[in-house]
Amino acid sequence: MLRNKTIVLGITGGIAAYKAAEIASQLTQTGANVNVIMTEEALQFISPVTFRALAGRPVVTEMFDLASEFSIEHVSLAKAADIVVIAPATANIIAKLAAGIADDILCCTVLATEAPVLIAPAMETNMYTNPITRDNLAKLKARGFVIVDPATGWLASGREGLGRLADINDIIGSIRQVLGRGGDLAGRHIVVTAGGSHEPIDPVRYISNRSSGKMGYALAEAARDRGAKVTLITAPTSLPEPVGIDVVKVGTAQEMRRAVENVASRADALVMAAAVADYRPIKAAKDKIKKGKAGLTLRMECTPDILGTVKGKFVKVGFAAESNNLVENAREKLRQKGLALIVANDITANDSGFGSDTNRVTIIDRKGKVDSLPLLPKREVADRVLDRVVVLLPKPRSRRPKKL
Ligand code: C5P
Repeated sequence: MLRNKTIVLGITGGIAAYKAAEIASQLTQTGANVNVIMTEEALQFISPVTFRALAGRPVVTEMFDLASEFSIEHVSLAKAADIVVIAPATANIIAKLAAGIADDILCCTVLATEAPVLIAPAMETNMYTNPITRDNLAKLKARGFVIVDPATGWLASGREGLGRLADINDIIGSIRQVLGRGGDLAGRHIVVTAGGSHEPIDPVRYISNRSSGKMGYALAEAARDRGAKVTLITAPTSLPEPVGIDVVKVGTAQEMRRAVENVASRADALVMAAAVADYRPIKAAKDKIKKGKAGLTLRMECTPDILGTVKGKFVKVGFAAESNNLVENAREKLRQKGLALIVANDITANDSGFGSDTNRVTIIDRKGKVDSLPLLPKREVADRVLDRVVVLLPKPRSRRPKKL
């Protein structure tokens, strides 16, 4: 979705300027055209040669550059942009933008653009928490600027605190989200579950499975990038929390069921990618179970079937990990659980999808249509699944014009 998008990346003069190199690189690798603008102060921290090489395009550093490919630079850059991103943004650029000052190429570009503007502040804690900066940011936010809040951690001053440039994944996730506004899931609420549930045996042990959560997270991010409001209900995973998504963390199948039921009435679609344990120990021991020569027998009971029992008007999508008779078993699950779609994968195949970044799936619908997809990155599988969900959603209710 970033492919062929034109992004102005504005870099201002802070120590986090070196991180902008990674942003430029990642955006370029996804196929975006990255036009870098550096302020005079940014040039003190990092060379334009770095960005010229990473983005493969000229870097703009001054207002009137006769050698530039752009005619009137700020106007051409502003017009061509799908989004303007300022990362890192110093207190100074934030103050200038809030005051409407246009004394450098970056400010002029921001003033001249009709594209959304995203700002990732990075500065010393006291500068960031200063009411002047807070007011300036609030003013920009009120004007529709998107602010990616800084993180807490090591600062150049040697102190720990709030003001570090946000994680690069969060900045790129926010860019994707902004560019995805108005996508085919705009105005929809998509609920996704992910990860393998943990069913406790005692305070330190649990039963789980090999699910990494990657498929569910890819679905949640893909839905976000198509304009949806997304709730991700996730069992424990080692994945970073995605930006722009309501994340609900759960442990057991029972907790996941409660979380799903809490949001189900507001959902347009529920996509259950989680690998929910089918059995759980009847009773988790209060204390850690001691090692004994006699071995250990666990008595197990079935967990609630979330997908099979949750009620509502949403489009219900299930996953089926099968080791034999893929299509027949998946079809049977679709029928039993009253699903609109089921996404099946053969876990005996080498590229079964567990833990990897790719998956080979077969999508089956209620009419029995079987669509076997090739091996694809999970993000692409997610988009293929959502393509199918979009056509099953009821048409959004159009608002009647008010009677005069
Ligand atoms: O029956 P099976 O566990 O194979 O079904 C898989 C599908 O059902 C998945 O979408 C999974 O998230 C969901 N499921 C559930 N509750 C369970 C077990 C599985 O919602 N207790």
